[in-house]
Amino acid sequence: MTIKTAKELKELYLSFFESKDHKRIPSSSLVPENDPTVLFTTAGMHPLVPFLLGEPHSQGKRLCDVQKCVRTGDIDEVGDKVHHTFFEMLGNWSLGDYFKEDAIKISFEFLTQQLNFPIEKLAVTCFEGDDDSEKDTEAYEVWKSLGFPENKITFLPKKDNWWGPAGETGPCGPDTEMFYWTGKDPVPETFDPDNKDWVEIWNDVFMQYTKTKDGRYEPAEQLNVDTGLGVERVTAILQGLDDNYKTELFQPTIKKIEELSNKSYDDPNYTVSMRIIADHMRSAVFIMGDERKISPSNVDQGYIVRRFIRRSIRHCLSLGIPEPAKFTNEVARLIIEQYKDEYEELNKNKSFILDELSKESEKFGRTIETGLKEFNKMGSDNKISAKEAFLLFQSYGFPIEMTEELANEKGIEVDVKGFNEEFKKHQELSRKGAEKKFKGGLADDSEISKKLHTATHLLAEALRRVLSKDIKQRGSNITPERLRFDFNFDRKLTDEEKQEVEDLVNKKIMEALPVERKEMSVEEANKLGAQSEFQDKYGDKVSVYMIGDFSAELCGGPHVNNTSEIGHFKIKKEQSSSGGVRRIKAVIE
Ligand code: SER
Repeated sequence: MTIKTAKELKELYLSFFESKDHKRIPSSSLVPENDPTVLFTTAGMHPLVPFLLGEPHSQGKRLCDVQKCVRTGDIDEVGDKVHHTFFEMLGNWSLGDYFKEDAIKISFEFLTQQLNFPIEKLAVTCFEGDDDSEKDTEAYEVWKSLGFPENKITFLPKKDNWWGPAGETGPCGPDTEMFYWTGKDPVPETFDPDNKDWVEIWNDVFMQYTKTKDGRYEPAEQLNVDTGLGVERVTAILQGLDDNYKTELFQPTIKKIEELSNKSYDDPNYTVSMRIIADHMRSAVFIMGDERKISPSNVDQGYIVRRFIRRSIRHCLSLGIPEPAKFTNEVARLIIEQYKDEYEELNKNKSFILDELSKESEKFGRTIETGLKEFNKMGSDNKISAKEAFLLFQSYGFPIEMTEELANEKGIEVDVKGFNEEFKKHQELSRKGAEKKFKGGLADDSEISKKLHTATHLLAEALRRVLSKDIKQRGSNITPERLRFDFNFDRKLTDEEKQEVEDLVNKKIMEALPVERKEMSVEEANKLGAQSEFQDKYGDKVSVYMIGDFSAELCGGPHVNNTSEIGHFKIKKEQSSSGGVRRIKAVIE
């Protein structure tokens, strides 16, 4: 069978890895649970960090999946042929099972025997070695044994051939990257990774180190393999296209934009705007429609969605599309339709997505044109001052990044630093808080976050006992300072209720209950009444954390071993999070 579509590629990949004894696991949420250091899931390995660090996975040691990811670091590159903020990543993992040789051989088999890529069109890079880790001659030898000539294997330094940790600490190691020749010219004799016609398609990471807080690379206790193959890129290659936006993944949106704007994608005056809209609208739909349902706002993930929607609207106007709210609604419907079989959360959250989108589009649609007029009056001295940028933000809803983009186009500067100071004065939670998270580390398995994580389980159960047995988790987030827990409940808690919940948690801490991880079938977990946020998403076997006989919850850990380690629990705040959802912030003292 000749594979052509993204859907076929995904299915081929997953069934191939199943035939190699890997278990297919579902994509996780785009919002990492209990990971305060990043806003979004950025790679397939991200939700698997606890297992890469040694926690046993209920599905075994060989896993594969297609993971929805968002990377905002590349947002400024969006507009070219290959960059996206949202993308799908195919991956396979060995959790302390096979390592380098097998991983490379399996990747090679998939590329040459399943995708039928000729070896002549392939080239690879390996890690050249430095003070932290030796040159990866082992990977090199495996590639050679598979028939790669020396001039198709290049050694590169850490900045190219090393992956992870996803944040500041955690699993990482040298990698070997696979490239495919997409040029119109015959394949060159010698591989040059700087030549853009060689497109990187797959990355095998050999996670043999753990980066510590003080920047050292310690040999990992478990040797893992983590791989990532970009669905959008490989689909374009399979279809002989040099532009990801020409694949079926983006074409319905692009066609809709062409129709409503009466302009052509192939007209270079409009290509970039159309790509930005197609990319950003897809990201916005996936983030709003995530299992964790995100509304546009001025903080964290909500701020990113807001930027995606507002930037799309701005480009929509520049294409001459008159009714942005109608436009975004039509495009979102198309995207939901296109992905709903694979990501059923989009269908489930369809009305939420469309409602939020229409509120945001209408709000911004009302102010953007006047805002643009104001903007055009500014910058006579080649500068947009902090006060002007703030006015655009506050009165017309221009995210600072949009003001910067508009200013850039006119070759003028924005006093972003001054804007941030102004912003801080007005907002308690500033955009900087959100931006900082992009740079932070991953998988904080520090003692304090373990304590807060276990306290979160106690809190959830205490809420169930005090308020209603129907309480379910709607979101959870832990920073070294506090825990944050969202749950379904339709009114404010009374002071007495809060006190009762707090007391019950502290009672369970004082009782010094053991915290134990148990592996069981879904049926057993159900029988036990184990709580789970996304029960239908787990495989046959699940991992359940039991706190004495007080709480049972499906979870990947990590946790303290005994509740007595937690300390004194205190609720700091109880407030509304969104319709029918309450939010508690609590600390350990
Ligand atoms: N984590 C690696 C990457 O993102 C392999 O998936 O490239």
